[in-house]
Amino acid sequence: MKRLSVFVSGNGTNLQRIAEYFANTPDVEIVNVVCNNPKAYAIERAKNLGIPVRMVTKATFSSPEFTQEMANLKLDLIVLAGFLWKIPASLIQVYPHQIVNIHPALLPKYGGKGFYGEHVHEAVVAAKETFSGITIHYVNEIYDNGEILLQAYVALTEKETPDSLAAKIHHLEQAYFPVVIEQILRYT
Ligand code: GAR
Repeated sequence: MKRLSVFVSGNGTNLQRIAEYFANTPDVEIVNVVCNNPKAYAIERAKNLGIPVRMVTKATFSSPEFTQEMANLKLDLIVLAGFLWKIPASLIQVYPHQIVNIHPALLPKYGGKGFYGEHVHEAVVAAKETFSGITIHYVNEIYDNGEILLQAYVALTEKETPDSLAAKIHHLEQAYFPVVIEQILRYT
């Protein structure tokens, strides 16, 4: 059995896609969803998917008790699916090379603190980039810096808006994230 935990802060479209992708895979289980935002729609999605939700405050999240709780779950992989807090070093030590993040741009560009969600797309369009994309990478102690597993590209048109770019990026995320997760689970 492969055991996943999915961390979320927002809408939860990636969580939904990952859960649906593995719905008919009996040896892959999402054991819980960890959420730091009481207003996140992802909570509703998790409930509808029948996945337990563990809400965390900043204090809980960085506590030794939480790290231990996660260690006790004996996870194969932690998936950051739009999760916006930095992961404590203690948790990375428990799960080295077992935490994966998706970022909505081509790292190292448009990464680091403050670059998340629509802020990324606004910056990419404002800079008149001709390409953007997604980066799926392992998580290390430095924000948006871990080893890259996959990047997928998309072209911007001259009339691109942050919203239209977000839709393109969303497509890439839906297509690639579950597949990369499956590859990690099967082959690493
Ligand atoms: C996704 O686009 C993801 O790439 C981004 O947040 C969005 C979450 O959407 N992540 C980051 O910006 C991380 N720095 P979702 O909640 O609908 O899956």
